[in-house]
This record gives sequence, C-alpha cells and structure tokens, in this order.
Amino acid sequence: MEKFAFIIHPLSLKNVENFEKGAVGRPKELVEKILEWTPPFKISNITGIKSKTGKEVEGFFVACPLMPAQFKTLSQDFVVNKVVKSCELAEKLEAKIIGLGAFTAMVGNGGKDIAEKINTAVTTGNTYTTTTAIQATKKAVELMEIELNKATLAVIGATGSIGSACAQVMAPEVGRLELVGRNESELKTISSKIEKQTSFKPVVSTDISKSVVSADVIITVTGAIDCVINPEDIKSGAVVCDVARPRDVSKLVGELRNDVLVIDGGIVRVPGEKVNFNYNFGPPPGMSEGCVAETIILALEERFEDYTLGKDITIEMVEEMAQLAEKHGFEVAALRRYETAISDEQIEEIKKNVVCHKTV
Ligand SMILES: NC(=O)c1ccc[n+]([C@@H]2O[C@H](COP(=O)([O-])OP(=O)(O)OC[C@H]3O[C@@H](n4cnc5c(N)ncnc54)[C@H](OP(=O)(O)O)[C@@H]3O)[C@@H](O)[C@H]2O)c1
Repeated sequence: MEKFAFIIHPLSLKNVENFEKGAVGRPKELVEKILEWTPPFKISNITGIKSKTGKEVEGFFVACPLMPAQFKTLSQDFVVNKVVKSCELAEKLEAKIIGLGAFTAMVGNGGKDIAEKINTAVTTGNTYTTTTAIQATKKAVELMEIELNKATLAVIGATGSIGSACAQVMAPEVGRLELVGRNESELKTISSKIEKQTSFKPVVSTDISKSVVSADVIITVTGAIDCVINPEDIKSGAVVCDVARPRDVSKLVGELRNDVLVIDGGIVRVPGEKVNFNYNFGPPPGMSEGCVAETIILALEERFEDYTLGKDITIEMVEEMAQLAEKHGFEVAALRRYETAISDEQIEEIKKNVVCHKTV
C-alpha cells in the first residue's frame, strides 16, 4: 500500500501537555527549550483510508517539536533543518509524499527550500485548504442568508499562500473585496493581479480592525501567533471563517457575540469506514483539515510530485483539488466552530440575535 506522511507541531502549551504529561505545570520557557532539543518523532499510524474508487493508502503523523513562536524567533536555518529532519524521518517510514502542516509549511519560502533538500515529493496542502475554506464559507453565507454578490468580503492575511488564493477565487462572486494585510505594496500587487484576471478591483487595507468592522463575510488566514480578531471588531450578522492555526479569532468572540457565525476553516470527512488517525489533532474522528486531506488525495492519485509550494496557488489547482476530492469521496463536513458541530438551531438563534445588533 502507498504511504504518505504529514508533519505537525504543537500549536499551544496545552497540546504539549496533552501529549507529554511531564510538561504540565512547567514554565513555558523550559518546555520550549526541551522541544528545541527534542528530535522529530513519529506520533501515530493513520489507517483505514479507502477511496470511493476502492484504492487504499496508509500514513503517519510525524512531530516537528517546535511551538509557533519558535518558528519565528529561532534562526531560520535551525527551523528549516528541523523540518527537513522531520521529512527525513518520514522518508525512512517509506512515505512517498509528505505534507507540511501549519508553521512547517510557512518557513523555508512556503516549503520550497524544504522540497529542494529532500528526495520525496512535498506539499503544503494549502490548495485543498483553500478549496474547503471557500466551500465552508459559502455554506455559512447561505445559512445566514447573506447575498454574496452584494456582500463585502474581507480576506485577512491576503498576501499569504491561502489568503491570496481565496481572494482570487472569491473575487468574481462578491460585491466588494477587501485585501487585508501588513504589507501595502504586496497587497497592491495581489490586487492588480486579481484585477487583470477578473476585471474586478479589490480594495487594500492594512487596518485589520477597521476592515473587519465593515465586512459581511471574513476569511481570516494569517500566520499570526496571537488572535487578530476581537469581539468588538465584528459586524452583527457576519460570517467569519477562521482558517488559521493557531486561530485568528479570539475565543472571547464565542463567549460574547451570539450574533455572528464563526466557523472553523474547511474540516473534511475522509473516505473509509474505519479511518483512524490514532491521534487527536483537533478534528473529530474520521475527519481532517484540508491540508492533511490534500496529502492523502495526492497519495491516492499516486501523484508523487511536489504539488502546493510557495505562494502561487492557481484557480486551476483549486478546481483540480475539488475534482480529485470528489473523485475519492472527500467532502466538507457539517459546519463547526471551536471544534464542535454547529446545529441548525444554533444558526437560527444567531440569526434572531442579529436583529438585536451587537451584544458587546
Ligand atoms: N486549517 C487548515 O487546514 C490549515 C492548513 C494550512 C495552513 N493553515 C494555517 O493558515 C495560516 C496561513 O498559512 P499560509 O501557508 O497561507 O501562510 P503564509 O503564506 O505565510 O501567509 C501568512 C499571512 O499572514 C500574514 N501575517 C503573518 N503574521 C501576521 C500578524 N502578526 N498579523 C497579521 N498578519 C500576519 C502574512 O503577512 P506578512 O506578509 O505581513 O507577514 C501573510 O499574509 C497559518 O496559521 C497556518 O497554520 C491552516
């Protein structure tokens, strides 16, 4: 059976504590130092995946032991080397394609430098993440009865790999598109690219709070370590799709705003009656995030070649991934927020609260 591997890393101290009880109650600095010294290791076998076509594959989660902040503060050579070492372990486990998760996909030029240093095919999984984030957002927009073609969509992190792809795909479908980020000249470059492709001119902004306040729909996908969207920022009745890991939307939004619909970006049901990741990485049993799913899809297709790397995801790639996902029986799961399912009753409740306007 063909094999794949997916590289993950802890997103918070709680993740480390869940895995290693010895970390409970230890100072963050000490835990981070120990992680820095810890070599990559295999976390689990991923079993039971069976495509609609009947093809089966199996895989592994491999841990690259570093916290999000360490990917930014430690020397880039050290970090890239640690991701490469994680990939080398995946190669020893006979993986023929390796997916890079969360911050391991953001270092080394969006995975390009890592792909150059190893012999096995690599993908960040960001193409299918884009596909699924868009599918989930559209589902939420429909449920909230927002007219997309009249709505303002703000993409936060629009200069990034997933953010710029979401913006390109969504541009022709929305009333107004705001590209939000920290680098104005990069935002303008993406805006011009979208204008050339679609003759639709997006607005650019470097003020996240101001853009969020006026948006009806938000796709947020920054590489920030801390939250960038707070309860007071969001317009009543808005849909917010939080694709970022760690999350961009403050948990306080869930507690203080009963009039907005925040959803987790694209959680996918993986085909096979006995799918088992043998590790709780966030999604419920049998489900995964888009980036893990893309790696599995490429393994099922035996596409053992580099796929998504860097920031150049094209509309054609997003469409291709949607087709391949359909072919193998992957589908976007029911909407979820903060890792729990959202019921129809909860959506009705949110809609009722919109009339009352903001609760904060
Ligand atoms: N849910 C999933 O299935 C899934 C899959 C893959 C990735 N992800 C997550 O998606 C996020 C983005 O991934 P990516 O590969 O698209 O990353 P990327 O290409 O590096 O883009 C990150 C974007 O975030 C911006 N950014 C970074 N730090 C920021 C801050 N402190 N405040 C505001 N903006 C900031 C960057 O802008 P600058 O140019 O200004 O730095 C850039 O626009 C990450 O959180 C990643 O873990 C989720």
